[in-house]
Amino acid sequence: MRFIPITQYDERTMVLAKPVYDNKRRMLLGANTTIHPKYLEKLIQLGIKQLIIEDAESKGITLEELMDMPTWMDVVDNVQQAYEAVRMKKPFPTKPVLMGAGRLIVEINSRPVVIPVPSKTAADEVKPYAHPVNVALMALQVGKALGYNELMLRDLAVGALLHDIGKAAAAHEKDHPEAGFNVIRGIREFSLLAAHVAFQHHEMLDGSGYPRAIAGQTLHDYAQIVGICNRFENMVTDEDVPPHEAMERIMALSSMKYSTEIVQAFVRAIPSYPPGTKIMMQNGEEAIVTKITSHMQRPVVRFISSGKEISLADNPTLMIAGSN
Ligand SMILES: [Fe+2]
Ligand SMILES: [Fe+2]
Repeated sequence: MRFIPITQYDERTMVLAKPVYDNKRRMLLGANTTIHPKYLEKLIQLGIKQLIIEDAESKGITLEELMDMPTWMDVVDNVQQAYEAVRMKKPFPTKPVLMGAGRLIVEINSRPVVIPVPSKTAADEVKPYAHPVNVALMALQVGKALGYNELMLRDLAVGALLHDIGKAAAAHEKDHPEAGFNVIRGIREFSLLAAHVAFQHHEMLDGSGYPRAIAGQTLHDYAQIVGICNRFENMVTDEDVPPHEAMERIMALSSMKYSTEIVQAFVRAIPSYPPGTKIMMQNGEEAIVTKITSHMQRPVVRFISSGKEISLADNPTLMIAGSN
């Protein structure tokens, strides 16, 4: 299976590899079905921008690395419950959020790399809740790369899942970090560190962030991790920046806006070219990423013309020029 922009869908050659869900997270189309052109229009109207499909080119790509979709949907639901509770001023669903955090930790502990279900595959109404789940999934892998223990991972996951919860409480976007801090701080089962993730996720190392423009040592590592993953997720989902370019932009801000150590962990933990991505090699050959074995930035690729598969980790002179 592989990822394609929805505009590249061709019903003559492609079938869905994963189900497509509507704006209420109900399954619209199951795996192994084709999309009728009339239906495709409907999906585009819902805001779905990416599909996971199977075709001749994706043969043999199993996307083992992709997060289990039903689990992902459940955690998205946990997050949505939290937002709705805050919005309606109802009792906060503490247990579902802790359970969601726990399930993400199980996911990242089960294998070397877990790639999020892209938010672009979700309808617009679902994206605000898919976003924190994907930020949390990435943040946990950065935490893992930094050698965090279970307790640290749990606080990081709760902070990441709820980093934007203030958006459900604050009238203005600029007030959401503090509003989120106050929501999380009020819940006994959550650590104050998780609350600080919400408060500080838009702060920058050089003091150019908001809301308090704090700098350097006062910035907590968890907030930096979530800040980086948040930026990356927003670039890829809302700004149509390809993951490898988003990665470069994050690296460019290393030491100035983001801690070097955390950016390095991010590069070790998050692949620039997720499996199922079509790429262009520097010699002009087209290829497709088939899997990631050891090195996050040096995947196994298959050349489209010859069908030959090689590991870039073992062939350091072969360079990827970009994705298409
Ligand atoms: Fe935010
Ligand atoms: Fe965010």
